[in-house]
Amino acid sequence: MLRGPSITGVHSRSLRRGPSVHAFEEDTAFARRLARRLGTRLAVIRTHRFPDGETLVRVAAPSSGRAILVCAFEHPNCRLFESMLAADAMRHAGARHVTLAAPYLPYMRQDTVFRPGEPVSQRVMARMLTRGFDSIVTIEPHLHRVRNLPQIFGRRARSISAAPAIAQWLKRARWRPTIVGPDRESRPWIRRIAKQAGLQWVVGEKRRLGDRTVRVTMELPANMRHAVLVDDIASSGATLAAAARALKSAGIAVVDAIIVHAIFAPGALERIRAAGIRRIVSCDTIPHPTNAIRCAPLLAAAVRKDAR
Ligand code: R5P
Repeated sequence: MLRGPSITGVHSRSLRRGPSVHAFEEDTAFARRLARRLGTRLAVIRTHRFPDGETLVRVAAPSSGRAILVCAFEHPNCRLFESMLAADAMRHAGARHVTLAAPYLPYMRQDTVFRPGEPVSQRVMARMLTRGFDSIVTIEPHLHRVRNLPQIFGRRARSISAAPAIAQWLKRARWRPTIVGPDRESRPWIRRIAKQAGLQWVVGEKRRLGDRTVRVTMELPANMRHAVLVDDIASSGATLAAAARALKSAGIAVVDAIIVHAIFAPGALERIRAAGIRRIVSCDTIPHPTNAIRCAPLLAAAVRKDAR
């Protein structure tokens, strides 16, 4: 017998054609856009939290043997486990192939043992997800020491760059700024966005001294007036704030920022604004009021390829 109260609201009608798209309540905005692109409907996964903190998930029956779970991992610790529960539920409900479409993939930054006693969290996350999912598609994962996803996931994973969506947004906004990356690691990515948008670019030197303490230095071209800082993640906001302060103290009048994954931990937006950043724009990989750049079409194209 089922433990706890019944979960209401599961779509009982099976989805008509193609792979079925499923998502937790928090991810429905992005998932709906993805489902629309794939010509299918979205089924919302219902969850119940038991008094002891455990979660029960309930999924709709997939329409075909292929199911896609859209999960942005905004709250990574519980979502990593809940996504595994959802994958298992989909298989029990008839799915033979389950794809994880993750607009944001967490735990990518701990890609080595930085200090004795630490884990390589990235590999732990990858081991876990490869047990639950047949394929994994994500947008702009943080790749630094590990250069590509197959290195940690094998052939099952594919990453998509948000660069074309960002470049297109810049063109449409008719801004003519210099694109600025906060650190050396961002160099190839920044160069790609700038090239696609037809803009000049520069990257800084970054040193992280703590969770919320970052130093950024940069040498800037003489003709620079307007800078757009571009980064893959804003978490504490310390990186963007430090880079903005470096730009401002070099006399750059207008500093805007574009980021892919708007994590924005508590206090981050205040920190970024205090550093003098005028406008903050993000991709829609994590729901946030700054979302302006749509990435669902990019993910839909990759999921379609994956389904072939
Ligand atoms: C790190 O290398 C990333 O590209 C980001 O710059 C970093 O994760 C941002 O984190 P925070 O907002 O906490 O400085």
